[in-house]
Amino acid sequence: DARAHLPEHLPKAELHLHIEGTLEPELAFALAARNGVDLPYADTDALRRAYRFEDLQSFLDLYYALMAVLRTEDDFAELADAYLARAAAQGVRHAEVFFDPQAHTSRGVPFGTVVEGLARALEGAEERHGVTTRLIMCFLRDESAESAMATLEEARPYLSRITGVGLDSAEVGHPPAKFREVYEAAAALGLRRVAHAGEEGPPSYIREALDLLGVERVDHGLRALEDPELVERLVREGVPLTLCPLSNVRLRAVDALADHPLKAMMDAGLLVTVNSDDPAYFGGYAGDNLGAVRDALALTGEDLRRLARNSFRAAFLDDDEERRAR
Ligand code: ADE
Ligand code: ZN
Repeated sequence: DARAHLPEHLPKAELHLHIEGTLEPELAFALAARNGVDLPYADTDALRRAYRFEDLQSFLDLYYALMAVLRTEDDFAELADAYLARAAAQGVRHAEVFFDPQAHTSRGVPFGTVVEGLARALEGAEERHGVTTRLIMCFLRDESAESAMATLEEARPYLSRITGVGLDSAEVGHPPAKFREVYEAAAALGLRRVAHAGEEGPPSYIREALDLLGVERVDHGLRALEDPELVERLVREGVPLTLCPLSNVRLRAVDALADHPLKAMMDAGLLVTVNSDDPAYFGGYAGDNLGAVRDALALTGEDLRRLARNSFRAAFLDDDEERRAR
């Protein structure tokens, strides 16, 4: 692949990726046919035309609806393997993959079906694609804390396959504080902790995620710059932020890529990484995101290398694994 030598394809880790957000229209239609699910779109072009979002919620509505095609262990394995192949082609050597168990169990797909399918693809990824992996289960923050706690209980038989917990879905009105007990229980089970914060929500949600949930990494953290004291703390404590530039434009968290705070955040000394979030919906995988910000923000080769270095530093890898991955 001639593009393997593009600077944006240099070896990197992807740390903010929802596996359900890698469902490309072609695979969605193939799975729909296989599973006898009716999609309210004539074809893949019509579906793609629906990918015009006003905000996070307008995206989430379509994202959850399209999950109807995911039913069997094979479906989840195929979805994850397709992502890993695409990621590997853009230089991803290590991927920490989110999934949303409640979005499946609520439709009658058992927790075990989801995890066994995803784990099959993830555990074969080093051999098949040269990508090491971790699996992180996210709680839907617009569901109750009780539902999250019940989901953590359901995960117990599968904990050898799950590295950590995250928090996603509609942010505003669902502050991290709501999930304090759930995160305490997750920590007691030895799980690593991350959470989406400061995507649409205010910087105070980032503080809460740190103080009340004990997160080691903040997903997005886009609005951190609004709070200089918070920035100082994030720099001092070396808390990684997993930015998703193309997502921010598509969900209108920023007006245009040229206005994205990524470079300003790097200049402020923050440990930022570039990720793809839901690449099938937002127009690009990890390398595409890096290429897009390089062009829009005039990033240098050194900036790109720093971002790649940051991605391995921020990963849940031990030192030996980190050396081998990069
Ligand atoms: N679920 C999938 N993508 C998400 C995002 N960008 N923010 C919150 N929840 C999500
Ligand atoms: Zn996300």
